[in-house]
Amino acid sequence: MTLSARALPARLDALQSVSGLLLALFMWAHMLLVSSILISEEAMYRVARMFEGYYLFGRAHPWLVSVVVALVLLLMMLHAALALRKFPHSAGQYGAFRVHQRRMRHGDTTLWWWQVATGFLLFFLAPMHLFGMFSQPDQIGPYASAARVYHTHWPLYLVLLFAVELHGAIGLYRLALKWVVLPGRPPQQLRHRLNLLKWGLSVFFITLGLCTLLAYFRLGEQISDRPGLRYPPAIEVNP
Ligand code: HEM
Repeated sequence: MTLSARALPARLDALQSVSGLLLALFMWAHMLLVSSILISEEAMYRVARMFEGYYLFGRAHPWLVSVVVALVLLLMMLHAALALRKFPHSAGQYGAFRVHQRRMRHGDTTLWWWQVATGFLLFFLAPMHLFGMFSQPDQIGPYASAARVYHTHWPLYLVLLFAVELHGAIGLYRLALKWVVLPGRPPQQLRHRLNLLKWGLSVFFITLGLCTLLAYFRLGEQISDRPGLRYPPAIEVNP
């Protein structure tokens, strides 16, 4: 076997780590931006227009959002294709893993299993959301988003929120275990600290996501008797 063929699995692993890191960072930024609705409807409106290039070009170009969505989808496809190598591929492999898990009784082995399960869910759920954002980028704003959450999307977002936040935090925890060293400290101490950080981040982002989802749902309920209503920005109300 040549040297480059032997290095291939390590290179694929590194690519999986980098794509996972980028996706996790994207998801945290996404959650902070989407939660602008908790500040005010105007704040969410401005965030949405910003991503359409309004403050750069003087007019909104929703297709810019579609471009970003397409890039995120490509990154997810790359990450998923690389992750597929690690999934148990047959009843035999699955059985061997379960035996191993029962024998080991190790928290990190169980976490790995949760990461596989949430990753599997994301294969199906994330594209449902992404296709909506890609095909109707002009339908993102306080009222349009609230109506979508209230009328159709809240169950999808509820499951997606838990799946993506657990998947991302477990992934980053495993990544840090691979690459981070605390000089002069035992590895158990690092593992303990990273575990606390992982739980802290998951609890923070899931709580933020639930509060945000509730805010969109309530707003959607308030405007449910006025279908198609668009948010009037402050500048139009008080020119
Ligand atoms: C560039 C790509 C993306 C854009 C433009 C986007 C945009 C949005 C917007 C505007 C909302 C608010 C609700 C709505 O308008 O329907 C939302 C909610 C949400 N998105 Fe995304 N999203 C993107 C990617 C993703 C990805 C990749 C995931 C997960 C794999 C995701 C998970 C969620 C979840 C869970 C919610 C509900 C948030 C909450 O709990 O409050 N999004 N997204």
